[in-house]
Amino acid sequence: MRLSLTRAVLPRPNQPFTLVTEEKNLTPGKGQVLIQTHAASLNFADVIIQRGLYDAVKKYGGYPLTPGFDLSGTVLACGKGVKHLKPGMRIIALTRFGAFSSHLVLPATQVFPMPQNLSFEQAASLPTVFLTAAYALRQGNPVQPPQSVLIYNAAGGVGQAAIQIAKAQKLTVTALVSSTQKAQALKHLGVRTAIGTPPKGQDFDLILNPAGGQALRQSKRHLAQGGTLVIYGFNNFIAPSVLPRPLALLWRLLTLPLFSPFPLVGFSQRIVGFNLIHWFGNGSLVAQAMHPLLALFKAGKLTPLPSQTFALNDINTALAWLASPQSTGKVVITFPRATLTRPLISDF
Ligand SMILES: NC(=O)c1ccc[n+]([C@@H]2O[C@H](COP(=O)([O-])OP(=O)(O)OC[C@H]3O[C@@H](n4cnc5c(N)ncnc54)[C@H](OP(=O)(O)O)[C@@H]3O)[C@@H](O)[C@H]2O)c1
Repeated sequence: MRLSLTRAVLPRPNQPFTLVTEEKNLTPGKGQVLIQTHAASLNFADVIIQRGLYDAVKKYGGYPLTPGFDLSGTVLACGKGVKHLKPGMRIIALTRFGAFSSHLVLPATQVFPMPQNLSFEQAASLPTVFLTAAYALRQGNPVQPPQSVLIYNAAGGVGQAAIQIAKAQKLTVTALVSSTQKAQALKHLGVRTAIGTPPKGQDFDLILNPAGGQALRQSKRHLAQGGTLVIYGFNNFIAPSVLPRPLALLWRLLTLPLFSPFPLVGFSQRIVGFNLIHWFGNGSLVAQAMHPLLALFKAGKLTPLPSQTFALNDINTALAWLASPQSTGKVVITFPRATLTRPLISDF
């Protein structure tokens, strides 16, 4: 199918996005679908990618790059063997990069019918953050299941998703945020908040920490006997610093905590790390994780996070907003209907 396609491209690290429009032939192969994107969401990983600090970019193709992990849209065409999707269906999808594109071809295993009760913006906002939160919360000690959880960066996307899931699991939640404004943003969730540091003298069975650096050392001090520290990010690598950037990075690398195995054995503690990006080669893993989540959204047991919406043309403003100290919840970009071109020539 010949299409006029618009995508947001990062030419190289530390450059802003540029919008590229080109005519392209996109035809779904066996087991694939062609999608027209209506909305996509930004994740903190996109900030790290824009700064050139996301390791997996090199592994999966490098720059120039069209990032983006989450999108919603409409199926334009299905390749052979695709059973659960049809042209015209509203869908929600995950991809290892490429979501910031008006059209794309994806393996059908990464594409799901969109729950009726969600808007395109809501649907695009949820896959990565809810998958990450659900996976992180499953890492607790299986022999001694967690009762309390401490969630770092709790007002952000993964943080708020984790609060919802942890509450549904009846865990006692402490939400750690960086400011009173962020604590205020969590008021409606009815959880205990801590600002800046975890509550003194309190230990937790499960600690979700994407902050990295010194915060890891702090987490370790608040880990209960039998507890699990889950690490899935290193936000502090891009935190502002008085040092020039390369020096700040080097300093943060050198001051990463080293964990001794003795207390891990002595207190039956566990430290777990993961990165969902490696799931994308395995469609059935993605599907297995997405189906129960989508069922919970359909049933209204999980709800989309508050989000800030920007037009595709403003993607650089959207990224700057996500990297700012004020942002809470999700950041979504929409593809204006005017640029959602009809197929120019259809060979179906
Ligand atoms: N491993 C995985 O598979 C995986 C998957 C998804 C996400 N993640 C990680 O999970 C974390 C949350 O992701 P998200 O997309 O939901 O982002 P987010 O939490 O919405 O935003 C990132 C958080 O980092 C802090 N922050 C903002 N700007 C910062 C800056 N310039 N320097 C340092 N910290 C800053 C803020 O928390 P405070 O104001 O509370 O400090 C903010 O809430 C990120 O570290 C991300 O890389 C990992």
